[in-house]
Parts: sequence; C-alpha cells; structure tokens
Amino acid sequence: MIKAVRGTRDLLPPDTALWNFVEAAVRDVFRAYNFQEIRTPIFEETALFSRSVGEETDIVAKEMYTWEDRGRDRGALSSSGSQSRSKSVSGADSRSGSHSGSEEGRGQSLTLRPENTAGVVRAYIEHKLWDRGLNKLYYIGPQFRRERPQKGRYRQFYQIGAEAIGPASAGSESPARDAEVLEMLATLLDRLGISDWNLELNSVGCANDRAKFNEALRRALEPVVGKMCADCQRRAVTNPLRVFDCKVPDDQPIIETLPRISQFLDEPCRTHFEAVQAILTKVGVRFSLNDRLVRGLDYYTRTAFEFTHGALGAQNAILGGGRYDGLSEALGGPAAPGIGFAIGEDRLVMSLKQTAEGVLRKPDVYVAPMAGMNGEAARLGRELRQHDLVVELGDESFRLKKSFEAATRAGAKYILIVGDNEVKADTFSLKNLATGEQVQVARGALAEKIR
Ligand code: HAM
Repeated sequence: MIKAVRGTRDLLPPDTALWNFVEAAVRDVFRAYNFQEIRTPIFEETALFSRSVGEETDIVAKEMYTWEDRGRDRGALSSSGSQSRSKSVSGADSRSGSHSGSEEGRGQSLTLRPENTAGVVRAYIEHKLWDRGLNKLYYIGPQFRRERPQKGRYRQFYQIGAEAIGPASAGSESPARDAEVLEMLATLLDRLGISDWNLELNSVGCANDRAKFNEALRRALEPVVGKMCADCQRRAVTNPLRVFDCKVPDDQPIIETLPRISQFLDEPCRTHFEAVQAILTKVGVRFSLNDRLVRGLDYYTRTAFEFTHGALGAQNAILGGGRYDGLSEALGGPAAPGIGFAIGEDRLVMSLKQTAEGVLRKPDVYVAPMAGMNGEAARLGRELRQHDLVVELGDESFRLKKSFEAATRAGAKYILIVGDNEVKADTFSLKNLATGEQVQVARGALAEKIR
C-alpha cells in the first residue's frame, strides 16, 4: 500500500473546515490593513534561496528539496532511457545554483520553496511592483523543508505570510511599518481567540552592526568553540551569528556567555528599535525583549520577532518575521526596505480553541426522494441551494428508514420528503430532525422555513 510520504499529511474533513475558518479570518484582517494577495510558484531557481536565506543557514545547508531539472534538448530526446539521465543532485553544487538553465542542454538547479519571502521579493523586482504601488502583499501556501518530522513540524507545511516592501520614500523603512505589522498580528491572533501568545522582540541591527558583532563573536568563540558541536565549529568560521541557531543542549551554557547583538546597535538602529517599541506600547501590544533572538535566516536586519504559544510544546513558534532592508539589492533589485512575517498555519490551527465540528457548516436539509423522484429532488435541491442553503441529496432507491438514517448521519437539520403526492400538490413534508416536528410547506416557502 502506498502511503503519504514521511513528514507530509492529508488534511481531511472536518479539519479542513478549521483551516478554511482560519484563512477566511486572515483574509479579512489583512484586507483591513490593505494587504493584497500574491501567489508565487512552488519551485524557484536554487540560487534565489541560497542568496537570500543564506548558504550557512540550516534551511539552505540541510533542508532544501533540490534537484537538477532536465536540460531543454535532453528533454526533447527523452523518448527512451530519460529516467537515468534526470538524476537528482544534492550538495554544494546544486545549492549554489551553479547550473545555469540558459545553457542549452544543461540542467538547471531548482528547489521547492522552503519559505516565501524570497519568492515575493523576486516577484517584486521582476514585475517592478513599486511602479504599481503594490507594497503590501500576503500569501497562503505550502512550503517544504527536509526537517525531522515531529508534532508541529512537517516536511510539507503551510505558511500564511505578509510582506510590506517598497522604496524608502514610501515609508517602508519607518518603524511605523514594523509596529503596524506587529499590531496586525496581535489583532489576528486575538480575533482567532488565541489570547495566550507571547511576542518576543529583538533588533539584529544593520550590516555595520553585524560586522562588529560577528568580529566580537569570533573572538569570544575562539577559546571555547573546541568544546562545541561540529556545526558550531563550522559556523564560528563561516557565519558566527548562526551559532545562536544551535539546539545542542551541551552547547547552551557556552552560548549563554556570548556577546549579544543589542550591545552593538549603532545610533540609527537603536533609535529605530526604540520607536517600534514606543508605538507598540502606545497601541497596547504587549511584548518582551529577547536579545538572543536572531532568527534562522540571513536576510534579517533591525527588527526581528517571534510569537510563541505555550500549548504548542517544543515547536512553540507560531510565527516569525522581521525586517530585511538589503534583500532586494542582494537579489539585483532596487533599494526596497521591507518587513514581513510567516505564520506556521499547521501550528496556528493546533493552538485554536475552536473545534472543527464547531465551525463546520452541516447540511440545512436532506432531500429524500421516493421511487422515481430523483429528478424532482434535484430540482428542489437546485432551488434551495440558490437560496444559499446547504443541501444533501438522497436517492430514490433508499427506503424511508435509510433516508432518515443518512440524514441524521450527515447532521442535517431537516429532512424533506419528495413523493408523487407532494409533487402534485407542490407542497412537501418537512421534518425537523432534532425536535421531530413535521409540517407541510409549499414549494415557494421552503427556503424561508428551512432557514
Ligand atoms: P521561519 O521562522 O523560518 O520564517 O518560519 C515561519 C514559521 O513557519 C515558523 O514560526 C513556524 O510556525 C512555521 N514553520 C517553519 N518550519 C516549519 C515546519 N517544518 N513545520 C511546520 N511549521 C513550520 C520564514 O519562513 C520567513 N520567510 C518569515 C518572514 C517573512 N520573514 C520576513 N517575512
């Protein structure tokens, strides 16, 4: 038997009702803040992610689904034996995206998106979205990371994210943007009834601060790094900031003693961070400062944040985000400061108090046709659905007892019997399945009565 691949899962009814409930609330809230939806491809050139998320991050170094796509003329030749030629690749070569697709016949390194910010910024540049004044974008969709699956961690997971990006002249660098995005998130979580969240906030500074901080980290690591895990020993050389991503318990006491980015913020970054905090306080969004929070992606500058939720267990980050002021330039675009976030939708759904049963819309009516009445039942079903009622149709082969059982199992409020006499009189018997009350209702009055 073929099963869903490890780390992936089927979302089944009635749970999908909960997902739809979340997505409807999200779209509603985003609309109020003037965010509009963008949909980017699920796979992109590998170089997009290595350049934005960063070669040294866990995501790019270990977790991406990368393959070499078949070259164009190889594809044309592929009537036989093509399978062996389209070998998949992994490792440094594919990660750096060194295979150029434009070269005839050579494969192109492609990757299933591990996150969506890079794709949005690529689209922003590719379509010159600044010219169209499109600077507040949101997305909902699957992302892929080859992580060790556990509760709240999947290899295909879903993110709900938003990005506010644009030329600095449009205010995209302002601390007001950061505060607006954070306040929107607080509003969204409250609206969904998730009240016990904690907003952890930090500033990771700008490139200048980072250079000084990295230097200090290198120095601080030198005498102790020999006692740390192999990953940290590599990070200490290539990108010391990433040492803060380490989850190895034995390394934590050492990491606790390292310098913090907060000690290295220059004046503009410090002022920016203070302004974000001042607005949050003004609008009543509670937060706590966490100067160990550096986030697992390299593109961040200044404001970085996570919302955590106690009920989630080890994977307690319900969402994360931050500012990425140099990302557009790093991808060959114009200066376009930005800030955004992504919610782990799987985790968001796990932290809801609502149940799927609670948000599911059950059938308003079950239409039960007697012998030869399938056509009449279909006609009634069509009429009632035009009144925005949820209708389930039975079948003329069912005995009345079976129809009642099916209506009850479907959770219908009413059962509507369609027989010869009813059709002739154009009046139908409608029974409330909860109370047992039964009434005769004329066709034209049915929808009103059922609602
Ligand atoms: P991230 O922190 O890598 O940030 O992911 C954001 C959220 O996605 C996490 O807080 C978590 O809830 C969820 N998530 C991540 N990996 C998994 C997984 N394997 N299984 C289930 N949920 C997961 C980003 O992706 C950035 N692009 C966010 C951002 C947008 N920053 C600026 N703009």
